[in-house]
Order: sequence, then structure tokens, then C-alpha cells
Amino acid sequence: MNILLLGSGGREHALAWKLSRSSTLEALFIAPGNAGTRSLGKNLSVDPNDFDAVEKAVRDNEINMVVVGPEAPLVNGIVDYFEQDEYLKTIPIIGPNKAAAQLEGSKDFAKDFMKRHNIPTAKYRSFTKPTLKEGLKFLEQMQPPYVLKADGLAGGKGVLILDDLKAAKAELNNMLVEDKFGNASKTVVIEEFLEGIEMSVFVLTDGDGYKVFPDAKDYKRIGEGDKGLNTGGMGAVSPVPFAKSGFSDKVLNQVIIPTIKGLKKDGMTYKGFIFFGLINVNGDPYVIEYNCRLGDPETEVVLPRLRSDLIDLFEGVATQTLSERDVEFDPRTAATVMMVSGGYPEKYEKGKTIYGLNGVSNSIVFHAGTAADGPAVTTAGGRVIAVTSLGKDVAAALETTYESIENIEFEGAYYRKDIGKDLM
Ligand code: AMP
Ligand code: GLY
Repeated sequence: MNILLLGSGGREHALAWKLSRSSTLEALFIAPGNAGTRSLGKNLSVDPNDFDAVEKAVRDNEINMVVVGPEAPLVNGIVDYFEQDEYLKTIPIIGPNKAAAQLEGSKDFAKDFMKRHNIPTAKYRSFTKPTLKEGLKFLEQMQPPYVLKADGLAGGKGVLILDDLKAAKAELNNMLVEDKFGNASKTVVIEEFLEGIEMSVFVLTDGDGYKVFPDAKDYKRIGEGDKGLNTGGMGAVSPVPFAKSGFSDKVLNQVIIPTIKGLKKDGMTYKGFIFFGLINVNGDPYVIEYNCRLGDPETEVVLPRLRSDLIDLFEGVATQTLSERDVEFDPRTAATVMMVSGGYPEKYEKGKTIYGLNGVSNSIVFHAGTAADGPAVTTAGGRVIAVTSLGKDVAAALETTYESIENIEFEGAYYRKDIGKDLM
């Protein structure tokens, strides 16, 4: 089987790592990939959002399956692009079509979907420029903090949480009238603030059957103690120790099953991963968000715990026989810590040589933002390297990861030293 994997981050390196361990893999191509994926397959200089270029790569390399890592190509309709072509439609593509990817692509769509299917989520209303006045009134009736969400994709920056009513009103105006997030904030969801601990659950589905993957918690803020600016994710742990069986049963029965049934009922065939961003409010799960893909850095802890063959599961998705496949997970804990460029998530420099990657033997090193410079590896993004370890518990996994990180060096490197501390 020849596989083309789209994307270039830590999630894609972890996917490439797992796919390359499958006995049915013949050749792996990654578009565009990073310095880490080049040792697992062939990196192609193809933009995942340029569907014509993806098509050419599929034809030129006799690809038998396409795996989509990031959300943008899905929300932009890459699956529909494949379905419209006589040749491409014979090649399975792992990821939802444009309609189903709206679960991530439009917060308003997702909220409406949850309301329709009785899936627990924060109370909300949506507003547009013509209904700005009503939105401002609605804010007055809400209790602080105020949660404002740009409807569309905004690179993880589209959610504002404000304590002050005046500031919330000003931001609603900025989003709807001043196009703060461009088209993404043409509609704004205002919702009730939920208090609780967040975690994520990942499910692979063929539109009918599904497999629940391990849950994970990520650490979004740049600073220790969860302070400072939001990032793409500074580390992750799986499983989440507080997600005991009672809570997991509620997640399954109140969230996962109604979502999969709801998609089917609404006439959407969802093939791929669903990322459930959850919050545990006094023991009850609420959906904070859906994503139409795996999380990053959650993938770097979820896939190392998958014992089953990932290509076999993807074939189950493609042929709608996922229910017949077995899935098995490592009971140990996986933890990952992200090394980032100095200055991230604000301005940072690229092109710094990374030293010591080969000195790591007890952890798995996943490249997130790296580039190959001849034989050298250099930094090419804000999040640079994710170092994952397995252990008998959170403390053991993290101890190994932090020991491994000691070997790795680049100018300006920063990482949080408190990943997972809240779970010990
Ligand atoms: P989202 O992009 O929807 O995941 O929102 C980003 C982050 O904002 C989440 O991970 C939460 O930390 C926070 N958040 C979003 N919605 C709520 C809410 N209704 N109550 C509390 N926190 C929220
Ligand atoms: N780690 C959060 C995300 O992938 O969206």
C-alpha cells in the first residue's frame, strides 16, 4: 500500500511513525512533511491546500490511500474534490467531507448540531452584523466571564474570554463590524462560561461503526501554572487519570454515540477522526468544541499507545468495516513535552540548528516545526520538537521525557517544566 499523508507538524510525524510500523505499508509520502518525516518516507513539496497538486502527487506516486492531518484541507473540501473525479474517487481518503468538517469549520453549525441532537454543551446564541444590537443586549443578560467565539477557522485565536462587560461589547463590535477575524467572525457565537477541567477524546469512525481512542489532556498556555498566552499546545498526557469509568460512560452515551448517530441522521457520512474537546463540570461532560482531525500534541501521546495496525483501521474506515476490526491500546501512560522557539507564540526566529536529537534513546522524538538543512536539522516553526515517553504513570513518563529533553539543544529553546503536575 502506498500512502500519502498530508501535513507537516508533530501530529503528522506521529502519524507517519505509526503508519511506517504497519506491515502493509510499501511506500509513504508526506506532503510537505518535516525533517522528522523524511526518515520515514519521502517528503513531497506539495501544499495540502492545493488540491490540483495533491492530485498530481497521488497519480505520480500511485497512491492507494490519502490520510489528511490538518483541518484546513478538510474544511476546504478535499474529500469532495476526490469524490468528483473518476480516478480519485477510487482512492480512500481518511477525513470527513466538507459538510461534515463543518463540525470544526463553523462553531454555529456545531452548536446547532449539538442542540438538535441533545448533546450537552454550553447555552448559546449566534449573532451577525444585522443582529449586533441583540447581541449586545444578550451580553447584558449573561454573567461574566463572557465567551465570544468567531464562527469560522481563526487559527486557534478566535475564542475570547472576557471578564468585563464593556470589553465584551467592544469585542463583539470588533468581530462583527470591524471584521477582527475577517470572514471567520461574520457570525459570532456567545455562550455560557463553563467551569471545569478540560480533556479531549478521539474517535475514529467510518460513518457507522466507531473506535474510541484514548483520551488526553493538553496544556495550551505558554507559561507554567497555565499562565500567559494560548499556544497550539505545550504538552499532553494520556490517559487522563480523572476520567474514571463513570465519566467515560457518560462521554460515550451522552456525547460520542449521539454525535455519530446525529451525523448519520443528518445525512453526513463522516469518515475519519472526530476530536471531542470536553469539559468535566461536576462529573458531567460538556462539549466545548469539535475538531475534524486529531489534536496536536495529543496525537503524540495517543498514537504511541495504539498497539493495533493503523492502516488496518483506516482500511476499516474506507470499506465501512471498522466494527469488525480489533483495536488495542497500551495501558501505560504517555506524556509529551513540546520544545518551542524563544518568543513563541509571539515573534520568534527560525533556522536555529538543533543539536542532540540522536542522543535520545528512551523517548520518541517527534518533529513539529523543523526543516532539513543538508544533514542538519533546523527550527522552522514555533513548536519545534515533541518528546514523548511511556511510563507506568504520569510521573514516570514525564521523568523520562524531561531526562531526554536534557540532550536536545537549540538557541532560544523553551519548554514548560510543569506538564502533567496537576494530574499527579
Ligand atoms: P475552542 O476553540 O472552542 O476550544 O475554545 C478555546 C478554549 O477556550 C477552550 O479550550 C477553553 O479553554 C475555552 N473555552 C471555550 N468555550 C468555553 C466555555 N463555554 N466555557 C469555558 N471555557 C471555554
Ligand atoms: N491541541 C489542540 C488542537 O489540536 O486543537
